[in-house]
Amino acid sequence: MRRKLLLGNWKMNKTPSQAIEFAKASKDLGKLARSNKVDMGVCVPYIDLVPVKKIIKNSLIVGAENCHYEDHGAFTGEVSIPMLKEIGINWVIIGHSERRTYDGETSEKCNKKILALLKNGMVPVYCCGESLETYNEGKTKEFVKEQIIAGFKDVAYEDASKVVIAYEPIWAIGTGKNASEEIAEDICKFIRTTIKSLYDVKVANKVRILYGGSVKPASVKGYLSQKDVDGALVGGASLEVESYKELLTSYID
Ligand code: PGA
Repeated sequence: MRRKLLLGNWKMNKTPSQAIEFAKASKDLGKLARSNKVDMGVCVPYIDLVPVKKIIKNSLIVGAENCHYEDHGAFTGEVSIPMLKEIGINWVIIGHSERRTYDGETSEKCNKKILALLKNGMVPVYCCGESLETYNEGKTKEFVKEQIIAGFKDVAYEDASKVVIAYEPIWAIGTGKNASEEIAEDICKFIRTTIKSLYDVKVANKVRILYGGSVKPASVKGYLSQKDVDGALVGGASLEVESYKELLTSYID
């Protein structure tokens, strides 16, 4: 049985003092999620990680939004996995479409990060998803399949199910134009089948696949009741404790 997962992605939002405010107000959120057997967390800007983790501790998952694949070295402006590990961060979003679009992040680069995170016993949340153009051309599946194959290159059998996959159609991110439940299920199921062909049915049944893109309280339950959708990667609705809590309660009620 795959446990449901709600993961927030703050993107480039919240100064440390705003992040602290969220963390302080989030105590009940963690409790509520745990008592309903939902894994829940937020991935936050690097500078917010220390203060947020200090307050939230293990009540919610606290993750980063990116990392470098090398342990240390001449990579100005980057943050390494050992740096994250030392402050108790174990989850990292990899290959978000905004990083792919604005920072030239390729699936090959994502693969290096995924391998490095797994080597360190950490959880990569690997994002995939197509542009509106690819969607309109009817090429979503071949596009996403390529991202999955490249991202999982050399990932060992015993590590594969530790990766969380997030399917986020780019045309649905921050646009309020979410994909239908049917589309989300169709592509998440297709991703699971791809994982099955790369590994086996055991890995495919274990790996968690999230949907992301304009998930709101009104739509969360519809997505999470799909057979192959194990949770959501949530941008806008995770920014305030109230709206994030509403998302959780809309799912569990
Ligand atoms: P959104 O963002 O929920 O604001 O659409 C989702 C994401 O980019 O992870």
